[in-house]
Amino acid sequence: MTLANDLDLTGRRILVTGAANGFGAAMAESFRAAGATLVLADIEAEPLAAISGRLGAEHHVYDQADPAAIDRLAAVAGAVDTLVANAGVLVAKPLLETSLAEMRRIVDVDFLGTVRLIQQVGRGMVERRRGTILAIGSQTAFSGGENRAVYAAAKAGVSQVVRGAAVEWGPHGVRVLCLAPGRCITRMTEVTAQAGLSGDRGLARVALGRWGSAEEIAKLAHFLISDAAGYVTGETVIADGGYVLG
Ligand SMILES: NC(=O)c1ccc[n+]([C@@H]2O[C@H](COP(=O)([O-])OP(=O)(O)OC[C@H]3O[C@@H](n4cnc5c(N)ncnc54)[C@H](O)[C@@H]3O)[C@@H](O)[C@H]2O)c1
Repeated sequence: MTLANDLDLTGRRILVTGAANGFGAAMAESFRAAGATLVLADIEAEPLAAISGRLGAEHHVYDQADPAAIDRLAAVAGAVDTLVANAGVLVAKPLLETSLAEMRRIVDVDFLGTVRLIQQVGRGMVERRRGTILAIGSQTAFSGGENRAVYAAAKAGVSQVVRGAAVEWGPHGVRVLCLAPGRCITRMTEVTAQAGLSGDRGLARVALGRWGSAEEIAKLAHFLISDAAGYVTGETVIADGGYVLG
């Protein structure tokens, strides 16, 4: 098999969450171009319907902070071959100014919601003895960062759950991975940059000297979920232009 063959996603049913914007939308485009059948999910109904219409995808509106909504999403999505658990929120604030309600929102969406979705979709994969799961974590899980202490902790938790699930489900033919992007240009980072709450030490710390793009994250995600990465599991792959190098 050539690498090009391994990157082909024809016949794969892929659930992408947070697909209405940013990384999720770029991933949906990349997977569709490679032949995948898409199930797209997000909390924002309008942009979700627009991208789903364009890509001929099934779509479902849900709130990742609501466990019952996650369970319904896993049920209606059915037998997916691949899950990309990408939906996430960032509340960018100094820790001393972060309310308990804000902490709960971050943990509910970014940690518990992501983990519950992995659990519910992974259950079917284990039964069918095949599947691939990719969670979107964050470089901040490794570097830390101002104005996102709880977010970084939630994302670090996702990386650890991925390791545990990979060990438990590997014998059942299921790979579980995490992709940890550094700062990339999306709505999420534009909003925090405009508010002066970027939380990183600036471009001088990025070895490659530039921020990343949603398309670059989508291509790496495509590689990781594909058969080309068939012997990789439990890893968190950092794509941050060298930021964590210091
Ligand atoms: N952009 C970056 O630099 C960066 C870096 C590291 C990690 N990330 C992570 O990448 C993922 C995608 O972020 P992005 O940059 O594309 O941001 P984005 O804001 O453009 O997209 C996030 C998507 O998640 C959806 N979402 C938010 N809360 C939700 C909820 N409760 N239920 C369902 N869907 C919900 C949003 O509607 C949106 O479509 C997130 O998990 C984010 O934490 C982003």
